[in-house]
Amino acid sequence: LIHPVILCGGSGTRLWPRSRKSKPKPFIPLVGEQTLFEATLSRVADPALFAKPAIVTGEAHLPHVEAQLAGGASIIVEPEAKNTAAAIALAAARLPEDALMLVCPSDHYIGKVPAFHEAVQAAAALARQDFMVAFGITPTAPETGFGYIRRGAALDGGFAVAEFVEKPDLARAMQFLASGEYSWNGGIFMFRAGAFMAELTRHRPALAEAVRRAVDGGKTDGARFHPDAQAFAAIESESVDYAVMEETDRAAMVPVAMGWSDIGNWHALRDARDGDGDGNRTRGPVELVNCRGVLADSDTLRISAIGLENVAIVVDGDEVLVTTMEGAQAVGKLPGAANQ
Ligand code: GDD
Ligand code: MG
Repeated sequence: LIHPVILCGGSGTRLWPRSRKSKPKPFIPLVGEQTLFEATLSRVADPALFAKPAIVTGEAHLPHVEAQLAGGASIIVEPEAKNTAAAIALAAARLPEDALMLVCPSDHYIGKVPAFHEAVQAAAALARQDFMVAFGITPTAPETGFGYIRRGAALDGGFAVAEFVEKPDLARAMQFLASGEYSWNGGIFMFRAGAFMAELTRHRPALAEAVRRAVDGGKTDGARFHPDAQAFAAIESESVDYAVMEETDRAAMVPVAMGWSDIGNWHALRDARDGDGDGNRTRGPVELVNCRGVLADSDTLRISAIGLENVAIVVDGDEVLVTTMEGAQAVGKLPGAANQ
């Protein structure tokens, strides 16, 4: 069985006003009826393939996690957020060395779940050979918020990673895109738990050691596990992309076309949802006349709009956001989003 490890850490301020500190992005229904967290759980729910998941999260997210958990899971409660290298290591250090772990962010959309499951099978075969396996998405724009993977030699079911570059600047991202040799890193990983800890120890020995101490000194409370806070406090905050994926020579990549989106902003959400013939995406009480490429989303007030193109209108409680699609990237910097 594959052991899912689900990371719940971020907040998603660019999806304000729907995503707020009090109810962050993974826990709100953005695409369809399920929240992104619930959808993530249901993708790894088949008991013939997957063991019960481990959720790695902080105190602040616990009420949401526990309210939306269907079926059993263990919950690792981080004393503080130390980014993904530590979060993944906490789960890895608690698993048997030979367990295969599938690390899933809780805030992504995947439209084609069967393609995801096929890729997971290919990744499992590579992870069993101690590769650090990433999932490669065909890039469509020079995004600077993603990791880029240059394909190396072909392996069974995937490729060796010739180069992994986390969040390049725009000039390099444009080069990578133009070369056709790169995939985006989808942020999903597969490792043998012992192999991950070995690579982390090789490249970030202090981080690995501190995580081991935090796990050894931790306490179990029902389904929750609390790592030792003092040992955890000493940990450097670094993402797995920098700490392991850029460093290791054992990286592999499985390419997958699964309708993936990280739903980073309202523009990305418009493109992830099924729309009508005019490319509009609506949710809730919405009336659009003569509109194209409009995202309109409300739980309460009715939105009525005429003759608009490529804008997003989002109503949440006492907040209304109106932005062009080009402006969607900057929503996190609005005073309302920043001081919520
Ligand atoms: N538990 C826990 N603790 N989870 C965390 C923490 C933490 O301290 N920090 C981040 N996470 C969770 C986030 O909630 C998210 O689900 C996932 O880990 C990835 O973190 P992000 O902060 O969203 O990373 P990113 O989007 O900047 O970059 C990563 O994802 C991209 C794809 O979306 C990288 O892996 C990139 O290479 C990749 O392209
Ligand atoms: Mg992200």
